Amino acid sequence: MFIIASDHGGLELKDAIKSFLEDRRIEVRDLGTMNSNSVDYPDFAEKLAVALTRGEAENGILICGTGIGMSIAANKFPGIRAALITDEFTARMSKEHNNANVIVMGGRVLKPEQACAMVQTWLETAFEGGRHQGRLDKISQIEQKIRDGEL
Ligand code: RB5
Repeated sequence: MFIIASDHGGLELKDAIKSFLEDRRIEVRDLGTMNSNSVDYPDFAEKLAVALTRGEAENGILICGTGIGMSIAANKFPGIRAALITDEFTARMSKEHNNANVIVMGGRVLKPEQACAMVQTWLETAFEGGRHQGRLDKISQIEQKIRDGEL
């Protein structure tokens, strides 16, 4: 199951990706936005990050105009590894090396066909583990040091 969310700048691409996933019988929970009214992307990044943190889904997709604001906001949440992907190479790497649990895209950057191909690549790619796991462990250690007030 996927959770997906966008602001108004990502609405069209969200709807295209949602249909792409549903056509492949992948369940999608849409956390909004549901219309083209201007909204604030941090609100939607927060909704999605909280749902993932609570274990309501394993993976998420966030879309705003550029993908930049959503990435910044989502990565504030411990345990969220949100990757701004721009092509099929970065889509593959975000899973293989970073085990991203959220992929972020720009609705004003990508065409729907490009974005859907990137989602497909990400779905088909496995995390490599090994030395990459060690690096993710270091990110978790940074989060722990912040929680402990050491940083
Ligand atoms: C909204 O106009 C736009 O700023 C937002 O979608 C996003 O691109 C921010 O990073």
